Amino acid sequence: MGNVTLPIATSIRVGRQDSEPDTRWRDYFPSAHQTGVGFGDLPKVARSIADILSRAPTEKVSQLVSKKGMDARIDYNSLAEEFNSAYWLRNFIKCLAVCRFASTEIAGKSRFMDFGGGGGPFSLAAISVSPNLSCTIYDESPAQEAIFVELLQRQLMPRNVSFQNRRVTQDLFLEKSEPRLLSYFLCENRHLLCGNAAIRGAIGDFSVVVDYLPIVRAVADSAASGGWNNRLVKSMKLPLDPELSVYLRQEIITISGGVFWR
Ligand SMILES: C[S@@+](CC[C@H](N)C(=O)[O-])C[C@H]1O[C@@H](n2cnc3c(N)ncnc32)[C@H](O)[C@@H]1O
Repeated sequence: MGNVTLPIATSIRVGRQDSEPDTRWRDYFPSAHQTGVGFGDLPKVARSIADILSRAPTEKVSQLVSKKGMDARIDYNSLAEEFNSAYWLRNFIKCLAVCRFASTEIAGKSRFMDFGGGGGPFSLAAISVSPNLSCTIYDESPAQEAIFVELLQRQLMPRNVSFQNRRVTQDLFLEKSEPRLLSYFLCENRHLLCGNAAIRGAIGDFSVVVDYLPIVRAVADSAASGGWNNRLVKSMKLPLDPELSVYLRQEIITISGGVFWR
């Protein structure tokens, strides 16, 4: 059973030759060539995100999450702008690091369902690793959809990502062979963690997950006992480029996730 946690420097540098930790944001961001959109550099994108969400103070959601940790409950309609202002870029960097870690497994896939995909950071990360992928976000929040549409219209999101404004329900889980992306979806749907059948239903035959470490561990335990393969990233610390640190108001980002398949 592959249950591997690579050392930090190796984890964030999958496929690279040298051994120094890589702290440059450019290596974590898709090129315009890869996505077909105008990403030149990350600060520019950070400014665009800030511009789109300029009405949104980041403090409110950051404080809510830091106070309650993984038990935070956020209304993704009334607080969608605040949430994305605080977390879109953070979550994108986490998703991108885990997608790079899982790039070999992702390489054979042609499409993903992005459960609770919100403003699309996981879909964008997956496409940056495998540009011919198409992704469909399933999210029940109209406000999250509005943010996704705004990113799309400003060409900050590639055209091979689409959005279905609906609740993720059992009928989607029954499509076992459809690969999935789940970033901070399981922490919002704890009922899916209450037993092996529910967990395995959520991850299907192939999933890439980004979430809090206890949730990643719960999925890994259940998946392993059912015969799924997995490779995990556990609390990987990624130092941020100084310019990005200023924007995100943190110097190190902590990443937990994994890839699960059978
Ligand atoms: C913590 S946010 C994560 C958003 C995005 N994946 C990211 O990493 O930034 C959780 C998202 O899942 C959506 N969500 C939670 N439960 C859902 C469900 N059962 N069906 C559809 N969307 C759901 C919420 O509307 C919200 O946009």
